[in-house]
Amino acid sequence: MLDCHNRNITYLRLSVTDRCSLRCRYCMPAEDVPGGDCLCSAEELVEIARAAAACGIRKVRLTGGEPLVRRDILDICRGIAAIPEVEELCLTTNGAALARLAKPLREAGVSRLNISLDTLRPERYAYMTRVGRLEDVFRGLEAAEEAGFTGTKLNVVLMKGFNDDEIPDFLDFSCRYPVEVRFIELMPIGEGRNAQFLPADAVLESHPFLRPLEGSGVARRYRSPGGRGTVGLIEPMSHRFCASCDRIRVTADGKLKPCLHSRQEISLRGLSGEALRLAIEAGIAAKPERHYMNETGRSEAGRRMNQIGG
Ligand code: GTP
Ligand code: 5AD
Ligand code: SF4
Repeated sequence: MLDCHNRNITYLRLSVTDRCSLRCRYCMPAEDVPGGDCLCSAEELVEIARAAAACGIRKVRLTGGEPLVRRDILDICRGIAAIPEVEELCLTTNGAALARLAKPLREAGVSRLNISLDTLRPERYAYMTRVGRLEDVFRGLEAAEEAGFTGTKLNVVLMKGFNDDEIPDFLDFSCRYPVEVRFIELMPIGEGRNAQFLPADAVLESHPFLRPLEGSGVARRYRSPGGRGTVGLIEPMSHRFCASCDRIRVTADGKLKPCLHSRQEISLRGLSGEALRLAIEAGIAAKPERHYMNETGRSEAGRRMNQIGG
């Protein structure tokens, strides 16, 4: 379905929880977050996805928080994968529980995984995530490959003074493994406002040999000569991609967010059938044209990243 800026909206990012097994400093506060008790049930989430499919959604991505902390995550996956119009069911994860869950996720109909990994150094990983172990993510990556996942992407949020010195290591990683390493510009939302921004152009400036590839989605894509994998740059701050935005979001408590960075929310809770479909159509139609973070220096989302799902 077209929104009022003539963009075709085909992609739903569906958050299944605001909880996370890690506590990344730029994303979550150290202490446990309140909430998490008014989450949509698996049935409600599947019903939302089904209604969204009737409005033209063809790709669904499960997000969080960390989607794999939900005990019924496999039921949710199976339910959404069974919707005939949904061509792609993806999931964004921190990878911590992937060693155990990669195969069951594959069997439940998940087609592709994106894994968040901001450093390749064990001590840094432990510092940034406050509680995580890097080896768990590596075991998860291996399990994903063994389970038959292809097109896996690694999400690296660029932060000056934290991981800018690892850009060459991540590029080397993309040469050795068949994954897409995506450098993401830090957005001034929630705890992210306390970390140091680095433009993704820094990657190209330090590595002029990267060859451009056809783009896909929100990333500009490249390959190192001879590399097995690819490199992506996601630049919401320095190269705004709102003009080609194709997505809506639904939070784990059932609020449709037409734009990641706008305060606007439409409650889908308690709606079903025709009423649910009409509410989603209204949300699509109401998508703002763009974000204004460059002008205001902050997101207007009114929630933290873990409460929206990125
Ligand atoms: P693919 O389906 O593999 O293209 O994944 P994706 O990039 O859509 O999803 P992912 O969950 O891996 O998101 C990667 C990063 O891009 C996260 O930091 C998101 O917050 C950010 N991002 C995703 N969509 C948008 C968007 O519409 N606007 C902005 N500003 N950032 C976004
Ligand atoms: N800016 C950019 N990306 C962020 N993420 C979390 N917070 C921010 C932020 N402030 C990323 C996570 C994950 C993705 C879903 O969102 O690292 O890769
Ligand atoms: Fe779309 Fe809003 Fe993201 Fe821009 S900031 S790409 S309009 S969701």
